[in-house]
Amino acid sequence: MPYPEIRPRRLRRSAAVRRLVSETRVDPAELVLPMFVREGLTEPRAVASLPGVLQHSRDSLRKAAVEAVQAGVGGLMLFGVPAERDATGSGGLDPDGILNVAIRDVVAEVGDAVVVMSDLCLDEFTSHGHCGLLAPDGAVDNDATLEAYARMAVAQADAGIHMVGPSGMMDGQVGVVRRALDAAGHQDVAVLAYAVKYASAFFGPFRDAVESALEGDRRAYQQDPANLRESLREVELDVAEGADLVMVKPALPYLDVVSAVRAAVDVPVAAYQVSGEYAMVEAAAANGWVDRERVMLETLTSIRRAGAQVILTYWAVEAAKLLRERY
Ligand code: PBG
Repeated sequence: MPYPEIRPRRLRRSAAVRRLVSETRVDPAELVLPMFVREGLTEPRAVASLPGVLQHSRDSLRKAAVEAVQAGVGGLMLFGVPAERDATGSGGLDPDGILNVAIRDVVAEVGDAVVVMSDLCLDEFTSHGHCGLLAPDGAVDNDATLEAYARMAVAQADAGIHMVGPSGMMDGQVGVVRRALDAAGHQDVAVLAYAVKYASAFFGPFRDAVESALEGDRRAYQQDPANLRESLREVELDVAEGADLVMVKPALPYLDVVSAVRAAVDVPVAAYQVSGEYAMVEAAAANGWVDRERVMLETLTSIRRAGAQVILTYWAVEAAKLLRERY
């Protein structure tokens, strides 16, 4: 029996050769840490469905931001959890609202060393939990919501944000935000567009983290998980409207989408490894069913390999530390 001459295994036989030919590396500088800050807390508070993730007080947020920078992460994505909510989400537009105050705090603390980003959406601030303003019939009113997003973007930029992340899936949101920023003299503030966002059950634990008041679902504005071509259309529109980066969300169940988006546009592509992706691994690891660190790095490598150059992940700090030991 002839033995094979061509042996791919030669490139796998030692750690040294595997390192030499590795096609994909995750760099800590490409990781972005999502962070929650809750109004009125004096101590950080655990989020039950996201082990290891905290609702921060203003003080603990600043400290955690410094720790993330020291670990080498490239960005921070801030989410605010207000003490009070109303039908129009006015806390999101208020310069003294929790998110805008936290932006000032974090930019003052670490602003030169990392990209500070903020979620630009009303769902954390509305009493009904939807991402926009409701019309009398209860549907989310696209164009009225755009006006609120424009004001929210300017409030965040006035607070010093480097990059805003419109995430509400309203039609035209990137263009409206871009124009509002420019008109207010904030031409340097970048837009990370949540261009592709599916109506996903993987957002479940996030809704605990922000104490979401949502009843029902977001299927009238977030995308159907069955669709891929629709995502390319969303991305094309956002780039035309001025998006500086485009994001796909969730990440791991949508790697085909990440890959297709990467092939379709030349702006940097980000992917958000969302709360449910994180929680599944944490739950399995807590039971001893999977090796937590290996699964963590394998998922991040896969998202990177699919074409995401920037990855939002609740593991950003820990992964950054592990990756620095490894390379
Ligand atoms: C909207 C927003 C959501 C997430 C990020 N931005 C929730 C939603 O769209 O329902 C989810 C992130 C995650 O699950 O980790 N403000």
